[in-house]
Amino acid sequence: MLVKNKNLRDWAEEVRALCKPDSVHWCDGSQQEYDRLIKVMVDAGLATPLNPEKKPGCYLFRSHPSDVARAEKRTFIACKNKEDAGPTNNWIDPDELKATMTALYDGCMKGRDMYIIPFSMGPIGSPIAKIGVEITDSPYVVVNMKIMTRIGTEVLDVLGEDGEYVKCLHSVGKPLGAGEADDGWPCVPNVDEKYISHFPDERMIWSFGSGYGGNALLGKKCFALRIACVQARDEGWLAEHMLILKLTNPKGETYYVCGAFPSACGKTNLAMLEPVFPDWKVETVGDDISWMKFGADGRLYAINPESGFFGVVPGTSMHSNPNAMRQIQSNTIFTNVALTDDGDVWWEGIGTPAPDHLIDWKGNDWTPASGTPAAHANARFTTPASQCPVIAPEWDDPAGVPISAILVGGRRKATIPLVNESLDWNHGVFLGSIMGSEITTADITDKVGQVRRDPFAMLPFTGYHMGDYLRHWLDIGKKANPDQLPKIYFVNWFRKNEEGKFIWPGYGDNSRVLKWVVERLSGTGQAVRTTIGNLPAAGAIDTSGLDVTEADMEELLHVDKEAWLAEIESIRENYVSYGDRLPQELADELAKLEEGLAKIQ
Ligand code: OXD
Ligand code: MN
Repeated sequence: MLVKNKNLRDWAEEVRALCKPDSVHWCDGSQQEYDRLIKVMVDAGLATPLNPEKKPGCYLFRSHPSDVARAEKRTFIACKNKEDAGPTNNWIDPDELKATMTALYDGCMKGRDMYIIPFSMGPIGSPIAKIGVEITDSPYVVVNMKIMTRIGTEVLDVLGEDGEYVKCLHSVGKPLGAGEADDGWPCVPNVDEKYISHFPDERMIWSFGSGYGGNALLGKKCFALRIACVQARDEGWLAEHMLILKLTNPKGETYYVCGAFPSACGKTNLAMLEPVFPDWKVETVGDDISWMKFGADGRLYAINPESGFFGVVPGTSMHSNPNAMRQIQSNTIFTNVALTDDGDVWWEGIGTPAPDHLIDWKGNDWTPASGTPAAHANARFTTPASQCPVIAPEWDDPAGVPISAILVGGRRKATIPLVNESLDWNHGVFLGSIMGSEITTADITDKVGQVRRDPFAMLPFTGYHMGDYLRHWLDIGKKANPDQLPKIYFVNWFRKNEEGKFIWPGYGDNSRVLKWVVERLSGTGQAVRTTIGNLPAAGAIDTSGLDVTEADMEELLHVDKEAWLAEIESIRENYVSYGDRLPQELADELAKLEEGLAKIQ
């Protein structure tokens, strides 16, 4: 393959000399290449083809039990000054980390092929897109990257002789001896020996020891969020952990909305929701990441930098996400789900009873009496965005789509109303800064029930100081005409009553909230101004055909003074951790809220 970019040729040679693979393969991104690598993995027993009559073009992979999720404790931001990484990141001195990892990389690809994957985050050549090159020794990574990003020769053409790219180096960390073959999923089983490292000053990523998801598919969380948010800060745009959806009202007017929700809060479900109103339409642009830049008209335009969805499988059903269910019937890679006796897949929450016999995600026989989950809780599908039945035709428009509203929210059983409209940009950034979710028993900590603040759902993904990140959001507001900025809405689908039952049905019924948001944007939605923001007026949320009482709606939409006063204490505690990098504007918003609450009888 002709590689015109000298910097890339030199880097690839440097990595080859260090990692010492048996061979080097430049990925062209073709279907033949994908099919060949899949076959190599099937022949090696690392992938199982599913029954072509039930799931054509689908494959099942089982990872090592130690390698099933993002390794947050082993994720590092290695910027020059420790203070610039801030209180929410693990920091290591970049020189020290490079020395440690260079020793690990030395000879780490022996017995393996080294793949060089040129990829574009965003439509190739889009003014909002960026290029990366991942070098990896994992064919599983290559096939997943082909679905999740745009890879191959065309990207090299755009890169040209001297284009810039983000260097992404990845190894599973398991060299093979002469004649040795993989015995299952290769990785470094000891979690403490895995490294997911970011060098933001150099726009570079080094990952070692894990083959799973965001640890290994370096275009996603590592590049499109942790490195890109640093680029965005320096270049005046936004790289965010947000879905992008398109809403069309009965008049045919369209609105594009982004939504920031922490992991496992239903972003993929919301992005593809089926509205309960037959004359409204929801279409999908993205389910996880949004890059937003100002257009010539002064509005923020978003692209989905990815080209596939890497979604959590358990809980996905015809009730929670019918469109995802339709999307993953073909050409999909499943990782860590259970295998049925007829070559199909099954998982907890799929909506059909467990069969009498399965092979579980660890490859063992499983029956309903086994008492263990058949699929891993973080089992995933990797599936092309183009297969989504409600993909918006403009999902890969290089110009992006103009954003009218941004939703922010987490899982909160009390205090936070169903929906609350910010009063202006700074107030919206304040709402984004205080969002978070209650810690559950799944988090393995003694802080169950406390709220983990997760500003704009970026806690695990901000590649620099969180205080500076919030400052950047405020600065974006200063660059624009306030009327052209998206309006920010704080939403919460997860309110519970005293019996611990969800008050709001969620899923497709969230379209009722989206409808009110659009009505607000077009000037018809009714709201009452309160000290926490603009709340829907009584009856303003369309609850027709819904089994939710007026008292429930009142509960979902009122300002609970005592709860908010307690909230303020917890927000303040979090703000203190940002030290002198907490923007004054946010301290002022908190003070205003406190004063406002004091006036409520
Ligand atoms: C994801 C996550 O995988 O946020 O999207 O963890
Ligand atoms: Mn995510």
